[in-house]
Amino acid sequence: MAAVLEPMMRAAPDQEMRLFLCTQIADEARHVAFFNRFYSEVGVLQSEGLEDQLAETSAHLNPEFGVLFDELLRRRVDRLAQEPEDLETLVEAVTIYHMVIEGMLALTGQHFIMDYNERMGTLPGFVKGFTLVARDEHRHVAFGARFLRDMARRDPRHTGAIQRTLGEVAPVADGVLRPKWFDGTDDEPMLFGASVSETRAFAMKALERRMKVIGLVAAA
Ligand SMILES: [Fe+2]
Repeated sequence: MAAVLEPMMRAAPDQEMRLFLCTQIADEARHVAFFNRFYSEVGVLQSEGLEDQLAETSAHLNPEFGVLFDELLRRRVDRLAQEPEDLETLVEAVTIYHMVIEGMLALTGQHFIMDYNERMGTLPGFVKGFTLVARDEHRHVAFGARFLRDMARRDPRHTGAIQRTLGEVAPVADGVLRPKWFDGTDDEPMLFGASVSETRAFAMKALERRMKVIGLVAAA
């Protein structure tokens, strides 16, 4: 995450934004440490060490996850590393990272996982830690929404960049919400007590809410 956020931080146009993004990098490092500890001590994963655990986790992710991080986001971040002055690319990167990955996908996953564990009374320590992670994530998403709102007000080209990026990313984000083993032909699978449609509806609502904050209507 630091590899993604660091070029974004350096490209941010003012000191306060750069300071915020430094705190976000520290948050994300703590989140990785938390999940790493959970995986090691609860024994969800076989492998040891962060690199191997990440590799083992990614075997369970659907291909759209890779497209989102390794293609769509990576392209913007690489460009920012070369051209930190490119504000339009920063707008696109924040749209993907803060609005779609964190605001739409991560918070949706967190909601259903925590809701499920709370109802079942399972993994109380994990729920407690995850609640703190979600608190940080809300702070990141709020920053992203405010940044995009300010940029949209500053220049209509930025509004166009947000909309164009959402249009490009939406089908991929939708794929991320579909379990890898679900081909759409059988009955809808339930994941943490929610169907794929319920999960999608929750994610769309989350995105719409943020688009309103930014002053845009979400392209459904
Ligand atoms: Fe985050």
